[in-house]
Amino acid sequence: MKFFVDTAEIDAIAELNDTGMVDGVTTNPSLIKKSGRDILEVTKEICDLVSGPVSAEVVALEADAMITEGRKLAEIAENIAVKLPLTWDGLKACKVLSGEGKMVNVTLCFSANQALLAAKAGASFISPFIGRLDDINLDGMDLIEDIRTIYDNYGFETEILAASIRSVNHVQECARIGADVMTAPPEVIKKLATHPLTDKGLETFMKDAASAGIKIV
Ligand code: G3P
Repeated sequence: MKFFVDTAEIDAIAELNDTGMVDGVTTNPSLIKKSGRDILEVTKEICDLVSGPVSAEVVALEADAMITEGRKLAEIAENIAVKLPLTWDGLKACKVLSGEGKMVNVTLCFSANQALLAAKAGASFISPFIGRLDDINLDGMDLIEDIRTIYDNYGFETEILAASIRSVNHVQECARIGADVMTAPPEVIKKLATHPLTDKGLETFMKDAASAGIKIV
C-alpha cells in the first residue's frame, strides 16, 4: 500500500520523506488554509520535494472553471494530481482533464456508486473519506471494501486512495482490505511505528548495555 501524507506543511513532509515513507502528498483547501501559504507557492515546494503524485484541489464549482483551474494547477509540476470534488461538474472536468493525460484525484467520495462514476470518468485516484463516515455512525471500511470489490469486478485501474484516516487501525484495515493508497496526517503515520512493548524492550536493552559497558564505536 502506498503512503501519501495528508498535509501542506513542508517540514512535516520533509521529515517523513527522509524515511522513505512518502509515496505522495494530498492537500485540500482546508490544509492549504492551515499552512497559511499561497496554494501555488506551497504546492510547487511540495512537488520539488516529493517525486510521487501531489494532489492540489480546485476551488471552482462549475466544470469549465474547474478545467481552467485544473490546467493551471497541472502546470506547477508533472507530478500534480488535480483534485476535483465528486459532483456532476467534477466528473465532467475529470473526463476532460484525464483525457488530456493529467492525473485526477476525485475527492469527497462517500458511496460505492460515486466511486464507480469516478472510475468511468477516467480518474487516476478515488478518495473515499473513512473518518467522516465513521463520524456519522457509518463504517468507512465497508465503503473501502465495496469499492475494492467493484473495481476488481470490472478491472478498473483507478486507485483507491483511502482518505480521512484518523487512526493506526484505519491504516491497518485499509491494508488488509487492499486499498491501493492511504493518505494520513503525519502524526498518524509516525504513530504506526510505536508499540509499548517496543519501548519497554528498548528500555531493558539500554539498561543492560549501560551496566555491561557495551560500546560499539
Ligand atoms: O484526505 C482528506 C482529509 O484531509 C480529510 O480528513 O479528518 O478532515 O476528515 P478529515
